[in-house]
Amino acid sequence: MWRGWWLAIAALLAPIATVDGGSALHISDFHQDNDYSPMNGDISFYCHNSTHGTRLGDYGDYMCDAPKSLVMNALNAASRINPTPKYIFWTGDNVPHINNTLYNSSDVVRNIQQTTAQLNATFPNVSKIFPVLGNHDYWPSNGFPDQQNPVYKGAFDQWKHWIGDQAESTFLKGGYYKYSLDSKTTLLALNTNLYYNEDGYFPNFTNPADPADQFAFMEQELSNATKNGQFVHIVAHIAPGVFDRTANFTWLRPDYNKRFIDIAVRYSNVIKWMLFGHHHTDTFHIVKVSN
Ligand SMILES: *[C@@H]1O[C@H](CO)[C@@H](O)[C@H](O)[C@H]1NC(C)=O
Ligand SMILES: *[C@@H]1O[C@H](CO)[C@@H](O)[C@H](O)[C@H]1NC(C)=O
Ligand SMILES: *[C@@H]1O[C@H](CO)[C@@H](O)[C@H](O)[C@H]1NC(C)=O
Ligand SMILES: *[C@@H]1O[C@H](CO)[C@@H](O)[C@H](O)[C@H]1NC(C)=O
Ligand SMILES: *[C@@H]1O[C@H](CO)[C@@H](O)[C@H](O)[C@H]1NC(C)=O
Ligand SMILES: *[C@@H]1O[C@H](CO)[C@@H](O)[C@H](O)[C@H]1NC(C)=O
Ligand SMILES: *[C@@H]1O[C@H](CO)[C@@H](O)[C@H](O)[C@H]1NC(C)=O
Ligand SMILES: *[C@@H]1O[C@H](CO)[C@@H](O)[C@H](O)[C@H]1NC(C)=O
Ligand SMILES: [Zn+2]
Ligand SMILES: [Zn+2]
Repeated sequence: MWRGWWLAIAALLAPIATVDGGSALHISDFHQDNDYSPMNGDISFYCHNSTHGTRLGDYGDYMCDAPKSLVMNALNAASRINPTPKYIFWTGDNVPHINNTLYNSSDVVRNIQQTTAQLNATFPNVSKIFPVLGNHDYWPSNGFPDQQNPVYKGAFDQWKHWIGDQAESTFLKGGYYKYSLDSKTTLLALNTNLYYNEDGYFPNFTNPADPADQFAFMEQELSNATKNGQFVHIVAHIAPGVFDRTANFTWLRPDYNKRFIDIAVRYSNVIKWMLFGHHHTDTFHIVKVSN
């Protein structure tokens, strides 16, 4: 289950693609672990220092999350290839896969601050950086609520210089926002962790039919784009649809999964593409529009 977390970084940094007449860098799932110990790491304990520790790789170990050295190496490599992408899409999962007893929500916000500062420093000339939260970017992990909490607030305070003050109300309520990329194109940056089948907050949602009113927001924006002849890009952490590597498995709860795909199909004329993280592998999906 732990294999290949860090290997995913190299793969996920690869897509430097052309978008809206410029280049775009997609980064995801750094899961940066400051407690990775190359001198005395224990692979049965997240490669943290312990009495069973051994000498591990300076840039990470296949069994564990990414140390800072690997994250910086990957960011520097991306910046050497293209120091000024038009857009950077950053699809979450910054916090390592560690036991909930080993951290708290202040640690989550601190981890987000660390990666934000690393990106900001590596790409000083890029202002269009669009982050979303991953299912690990919460305490307890996978516990996303549909109401205000210190993580949404802490992330928003870090990111408002990129995503703008107008994102505040939706971000503080549900960790999602829109951003007008240009007169023809809107970005919807969504929090699909609310739909994750492991979201521990699910029983307490105020509006379980539409957590944080995000579906209504999507539909309103997509409907508006249709009327105005505009296009929409969608980014989020967890993708709808099936996960290729496990038979008949969807990450999202079946009813939320269906609703998301139904919306994507209904507005397929205005949605140019959707970009996600979470898989730790490169995958490409085509949404079937009609039978
Ligand atoms: C690492 O763990 C060993 C044994 O538990 C301990 O003696 C040592 O102080 C720890 N080192 C650090 C840097 O935490
Ligand atoms: C997390 O740590 C607690 C306390 O040490 C332990 O009871 C629990 O089993 C651990 N959970 C996992 C998933 O390792
Ligand atoms: C989180 O844990 C740190 C120690 O690791 C502690 O200093 C801090 O007060 C804790 N914050 C919360 C909100 O519990
Ligand atoms: C981002 O970098 C600029 C300099 O390029 C610096 O002034 C600013 O404080 C940095 N912001 C964050 C959040 O690290
Ligand atoms: C950012 O822009 C400044 C001013 O044009 C330039 O001196 C600097 O080298 C650029 N940095 C990067 C990393 O592109
Ligand atoms: C949900 O609400 C109940 C009742 O207030 C509370 O006991 C429980 O801890 C809450 N669960 C979560 C995940 O917040
Ligand atoms: C709908 O589009 C119009 C025209 O671009 C804009 O003024 C309005 O704010 C949009 N409404 C929403 C909810 O996006
Ligand atoms: C896949 O899962 C769905 C929903 O749980 C179920 O209805 C269907 O029979 C399953 N298909 C296969 C091939 O197992
Ligand atoms: Zn991840
Ligand atoms: Zn994830």
